[in-house]
Amino acid sequence: MNWVQRKIYLYNVTFGLYMLDWWERYIFNILILVLLYFVCYNGSRSATEFYRSHLKVKLGFGGNITSRCYTLTFGDNKIKMENSGGDDQNVTVPPVEGVAGGGTGYGWSDVGQQCSNPLIDIDIDPRKVPSADLVHVWCMPSSANIGQQDVPRPLEPITLLVARNERESAQIAMRPKVSWGAPGIAGVVQVQCTDLCSTSGDRLVSGQSLTLRRVVPILGVPDALVPLDLPVSQINLLPGETTAVWVSIDVPTGQPPGQYEGEIFITAIKGDTDSSAPYFAKGEKHQIYKELRNCLDVVEPINGKSSDEVAERVKSATTSLRRVLLSPTFIECSPENGHIDLMEEDMLTSLSLHLKLNVTVWEFTLPVTPSLPAVFGISETVIEDRYGVEHGSEGWYDALEQHFKWLLHYRISPFFCRWGDGMRVFAYSCPWTAENPKSEEYYSDPRLAAYAVPFTPVLSGGDAAKEFLRKEIETLKSKTHWKKSYFYLWDEPLNVEQYDSIRNMSIEIRNYAPDARVLTTYYSGPNDAPLALNNFEAFVKVPKFLRPHTQIYCTSEWVLGNREDLVKDIVSELQPENGEEWWTYVCMGPSDPHPNWHLGMRGTQHRAVMWRVWKEGGTGFLYWGSNCYEKATVASAEIRFRRGLPPGDGVLFYPGEVFSTSQLVASVRLERILSGLQDIEYLKLYESRYGRDESLALLEKTGVYLGPERYTLDHTPVDLMRGEIFCACRS
Ligand SMILES: *[C@@H]1O[C@H](CO)[C@@H](O)[C@H](O)[C@H]1NC(C)=O
Ligand SMILES: *[C@@H]1O[C@H](CO)[C@@H](O)[C@H](O)[C@H]1NC(C)=O
Ligand SMILES: *[C@@H]1O[C@H](CO)[C@@H](O)[C@H](O)[C@H]1NC(C)=O
Ligand SMILES: *[C@@H]1O[C@H](CO)[C@@H](O)[C@H](O)[C@H]1NC(C)=O
Repeated sequence: MNWVQRKIYLYNVTFGLYMLDWWERYIFNILILVLLYFVCYNGSRSATEFYRSHLKVKLGFGGNITSRCYTLTFGDNKIKMENSGGDDQNVTVPPVEGVAGGGTGYGWSDVGQQCSNPLIDIDIDPRKVPSADLVHVWCMPSSANIGQQDVPRPLEPITLLVARNERESAQIAMRPKVSWGAPGIAGVVQVQCTDLCSTSGDRLVSGQSLTLRRVVPILGVPDALVPLDLPVSQINLLPGETTAVWVSIDVPTGQPPGQYEGEIFITAIKGDTDSSAPYFAKGEKHQIYKELRNCLDVVEPINGKSSDEVAERVKSATTSLRRVLLSPTFIECSPENGHIDLMEEDMLTSLSLHLKLNVTVWEFTLPVTPSLPAVFGISETVIEDRYGVEHGSEGWYDALEQHFKWLLHYRISPFFCRWGDGMRVFAYSCPWTAENPKSEEYYSDPRLAAYAVPFTPVLSGGDAAKEFLRKEIETLKSKTHWKKSYFYLWDEPLNVEQYDSIRNMSIEIRNYAPDARVLTTYYSGPNDAPLALNNFEAFVKVPKFLRPHTQIYCTSEWVLGNREDLVKDIVSELQPENGEEWWTYVCMGPSDPHPNWHLGMRGTQHRAVMWRVWKEGGTGFLYWGSNCYEKATVASAEIRFRRGLPPGDGVLFYPGEVFSTSQLVASVRLERILSGLQDIEYLKLYESRYGRDESLALLEKTGVYLGPERYTLDHTPVDLMRGEIFCACRS
């Protein structure tokens, strides 16, 4: 079959035309042709204008990274990405380096670059030129933030050390040297992965243990990790821009230790070639189906909605439709696009760039239950609004479960929450009552290090709520997992009345279970009855003031500033013999240069939050929110950060619908949180062999972390520390 026949065949199969009579097919085809005519002419013309005039999510799917100009609004102020294009139609495309490379043409662009302004070197045929002459490829560690202006480096193999039940990641950066592609892009590269094989024949399978995600900027900062198809994906490169792909290796618990090797092939290709079609056709059909389905779901329930909501829904559906039209399936309908030829399989690999992956799997197995409970909030209100699920409905339970399991993969113990009056919180890890068999699935999951028990009287003061609480506690306290339970009742009490509320609630809980643990977050004592003369002293006296109504004293890292020495003042007030613990949290504060998870901070700064916890000796960690976007009533609606908060605060992952996938989409910050939590397991292993002082000495000696303002900015010390632990602890 030649190319044209094949496309016609695919078309027939896709739309089920073979089932129709000849005259039905005839009418259908005419309709499609008319539709395509409009699509190609009006669609392609208005597309650019649409993008320029709307600060809307602009994302391609199925590997179209061209439109990675992704915009977000932050609070009231619309912030525009550097690439969302100005309103000037006349920007000239900056020069791109010549084939020989080595130019200094980097960093040319701070202003809008036109997605629609082609500079194609029609002489370049990627089927005849080694890909290395067309595109720079180099590797970067997971702690690097790879910006569009990142400058190429020499290509070296990716070398990773991974324990079992651990995930390690690295990044591949790509930057075109010339243009060889379709209008508006420098060109398309195809990324293809092999399995990783050991000398003894064991495998880490591509698509399962080896995964690829493209790094998409949020507010101009590389953050969202959108899954790519494996074993083959296509990515569009933009002229003069660096694009990154995030590579992760997940080593299963049972994986035999050893040296694993594999390869990633990167090949410059001419558009959507047939060599990839077998992989693409089906996935894309699904994708298009999902998109169209989604449009219907979004616009169908419009009756009786407010005009604002209708507008929001129509806008969302428009974005989806636009995405379908701009997908690779329809790109050949675009009038500028000529005929695309087949590429020979052999030629493809002989011209490809080969990137070696060298993974050392060692015998250490990270404990299934994290050593340090890291409890993170998931806003149930956000889920209800965005996914349109009614509280208590089947869809609601499903959505909650999806979020719960998602965070468990990151060694995080989630709790759902809702904020009440004052800073009352209603926090619970399991949406099912303790009597429901389903609750066992949640509470006894070994990956859960701690769980929040709902304090129902927060919702309604009546006797029924009290009775419910009593029954809930009676059921749970007989279980072996009860020791993982805690009650989180109030966020950051500030005055005597609020501290009293915590006391009152705690009394009620401890009536039913004297060994219950109450967690209280705070950063100061009561401001209307100072416990001491200065603020810090008053803060340190909180345990004395609250005892025995709180067991987990969870303090803000912000209070410490740069003074790690103050930790001993906090800890000396606690009674660990009575089960009291010291946990910490970060939120708006501390701010730069201290470790936190805001967007725009350094990669090692994200990872350092957990190094800090290890050094200071806290036994747990709390983070208030992982999905706290501004309210939206459509899943695929643009994501906005909450006003008044630093960008990224309270948002660690994104709804997949925004990126045309049904899975949740992690941020690189979430990946670095996982890396930090894994580092704690390494340090803990080292401590178990050589003692705590030695583990702290290692953290300092390797230069990884010395204090809140003195930690490595570079990745090398991290590998050094992990390597030391590997050498010292391997059997
Ligand atoms: C990707 O999307 C952009 C829209 O900004 C479009 O101009 C381009 O043609 C698309 N490319 C492919 C390969 O789909
Ligand atoms: C675009 O640039 C040309 C030549 O520099 C100029 O004559 C024209 O007025 C410009 N158009 C716009 C819309 O700025
Ligand atoms: C892979 O990495 C290990 C550890 O860094 C090294 O000893 C080994 O020689 C590397 N193998 C190859 C083929 O590069
Ligand atoms: C706490 O309980 C006491 C005794 O029942 C009550 O007088 C007080 O008002 C309560 N305080 C708060 C803040 O709920």
